[in-house]
Amino acid sequence: MELSDKVVLVRVDFNVPMGNGIIMDDARIRVPVATVRDLQNRGAKVVLISHLGKTSDQTEVESLRQLIPHIEKIYKSSVLFIENYLSENTRSLIKKAPQNSLILFENLRFHPQEESCDLAFAEKLASLGDFFVNEAFSVSHRKHASVFGIPQFLPSDLGENFKKEIKNIERFFNYSSGKRMAIIGGSKLLTKIKLLKRLVTKVDKLALGGGIAGAFLSYFKNDISEVFDFGEYEADVKEVTENAKKFGCELIVPTDFSALISTKSEHAIMRSEDSNTMVFDIGPDSVKLLEDHILTSDMVLWNGPVGLFERSPFEFGTKAIAEFIAERTQNHQLISIIGGGDTGFAMKKFGVADKMTCISTAGGAFLNYVENEDCPALEAIRISHSKFGEL
Ligand code: 3PG
Repeated sequence: MELSDKVVLVRVDFNVPMGNGIIMDDARIRVPVATVRDLQNRGAKVVLISHLGKTSDQTEVESLRQLIPHIEKIYKSSVLFIENYLSENTRSLIKKAPQNSLILFENLRFHPQEESCDLAFAEKLASLGDFFVNEAFSVSHRKHASVFGIPQFLPSDLGENFKKEIKNIERFFNYSSGKRMAIIGGSKLLTKIKLLKRLVTKVDKLALGGGIAGAFLSYFKNDISEVFDFGEYEADVKEVTENAKKFGCELIVPTDFSALISTKSEHAIMRSEDSNTMVFDIGPDSVKLLEDHILTSDMVLWNGPVGLFERSPFEFGTKAIAEFIAERTQNHQLISIIGGGDTGFAMKKFGVADKMTCISTAGGAFLNYVENEDCPALEAIRISHSKFGEL
């Protein structure tokens, strides 16, 4: 479609990890480049809208202004920054901007109406553009004004990367020509219960690591797991375990662990019979067990590190598994789909991020899509299509 003089609002997720004002990982800034270039090449003025930081857990919500030099470098385009985009002259600023302009609005989360999904706020934003494109898969699970509201007022579509992210996850669920294995780690069982309940009915093997594995070991009455608190989740763990049998899914739990034995980071390998020990990683036997299962799988979906990989020597398990999966992927023996904030970060840390079939830029949104195969962002695009037609 020819877009000369049209204004396209593009929801991006520039919520990049920052440390002392420095961008630690710019992947999310790079993701929308192709979509934005394509729109600019067709003559559009592109307005990027994003958030940076969390209001919900008191992490400071910061100005997007600090990202401008980096955005200009990556997009090879100068940025017109509009701080008070709710003011009356925004429309004329956009109108005066030359064709192909790259415009950036200040952080959406400076306005509480964004997170409360205030439809008047969404309509006001929508009134500044002719079309809307969502290129922020990593925030697709949020029913926020810019994600769920704007498409209700404008002809809208998904960006190419957003579509690719969905396709990767769908590929896992639709795969029928081989064995599928899911590896689910992380520290909090609460955040993964729904995911486990779904996966156990879908995959051939479900391997558990991190604190999540501890809850299952505790359920199986393994002594070491007494240190894991799983009390209130007993019914959920039982359901997953029983469904594993019912749906023919092999449940794989670690058999040995790495534990801290002194404050000087000395560690020891414990058997599961040893009790009352704080464990921070899986041990070599468990790594071998996982590798054996990966060897007989054709596709792996991995979410959540299997140990405290940020702290030496407890990176051992996550690093070994990452390298094994990367090698098999490179040898075309495995399709690997990696998702989740910490997991993606671990792959980068171990230098294997480029060796996997795909790594999602999303954390919570990846989890949400695997759990539901739907999200508020998609729901909103469907509403838009029913009102304005497909683009
Ligand atoms: C993320 O970092 O996962 C996304 O930017 C969404 O951020 P949120 O969890 O603060 O909504």
